[in-house]
Amino acid sequence: MVQLSKPKSYYRKWVETEGIPIIDGHYVESLQEVDVFPWPRLGGLGVYINHEASDVSNDCYVAEIPPGQALVPQRHFFEIMIYVLRGRGATTVWYGTGPKRTFEWQAGSLFAIPLNAHYQHFNGQGAEPCRFLAVTNCPMVMNMVQSVEFIFGCDFEFRDRFNGEEDYFSGAGELRGRTWETNFVPDLKIFEGMLDYKERGAGGRNVRFRLAKNAMRAHISEFPVGTYKKGHRHGPGAHVVVVSGRGYSLMWREGEPIQEFPWRPGTLLIPPNQWFHQHFNTGPEPARYLALRLGGLGTQPERTSDGLSKSTVDRKLGGDQIEYEDEDPMIRQKYLEACAQNGVAVQMETFWQRPG
Ligand SMILES: [Fe+2]
Repeated sequence: MVQLSKPKSYYRKWVETEGIPIIDGHYVESLQEVDVFPWPRLGGLGVYINHEASDVSNDCYVAEIPPGQALVPQRHFFEIMIYVLRGRGATTVWYGTGPKRTFEWQAGSLFAIPLNAHYQHFNGQGAEPCRFLAVTNCPMVMNMVQSVEFIFGCDFEFRDRFNGEEDYFSGAGELRGRTWETNFVPDLKIFEGMLDYKERGAGGRNVRFRLAKNAMRAHISEFPVGTYKKGHRHGPGAHVVVVSGRGYSLMWREGEPIQEFPWRPGTLLIPPNQWFHQHFNTGPEPARYLALRLGGLGTQPERTSDGLSKSTVDRKLGGDQIEYEDEDPMIRQKYLEACAQNGVAVQMETFWQRPG
């Protein structure tokens, strides 16, 4: 087949001028340890991570704030969600004519900056760096307006998203259906507000987040010791970062070899567009991950004729989820061996026996 070279998008041309390396890929074993580099715009250190569809969807970067320092104040016309990987610090947020609001965060915190607000991050420790992961919808916004000057120079204030509320980053938030509407989660490692989620199998729990009234969305998911989830596939841009636990994920494009990716806290996986992926807990504690994704921005999940999200519907019924009884026997065998090696008791028997 003839490979046509893809022209670079406006976003890609811009991100290459940021002066820091770009990791092109869908797996980073340790965001805690990935190399970061001096980044003039932010004033700290960083590295970009672009997945195969970043050009048309979302991107992410890891940033580090040196001990006792602050990053350069930022403002931009794209949404951003932040998950803290390491350290303690604070962020101040404001619109030009409004009050400044400051909140403190720590490793495990999740928050978002209201669209186009000014903000500045501070390291609250004198001897240790802070590190965070940021997922943004910069690529799609930048490709649409094609103006760096506008993206970083527009002064519109989205007062319907943030109006200087005193408790904006300290309120508990509100659960609507399966979604927490909030702006700040203090520590995802111990967050208790999850709900049963049977669709993906094996006794899992999850809950979605809508932060700072963003169009982008997030969710956390937890699955018990000795279990694994069902394989499935969907569109691009889900940035999956492991919050706690140990295990591995399998990812593969239909008809191609299955690839294995081990994980631990701080591992990042970005399943490529329509690749099957499946997550396996092989450790002695429940495994929990955070997914930061585009949500309603142009990547509405594909639906079956019944209107259900294909990624949660059995392939035999027209969906994109592989039920346990239909999976490659190698997948079950491999899991049994991995758990035996770790001395973990497999708890899958009832799920394997119960179709659907
Ligand atoms: Fe997924």
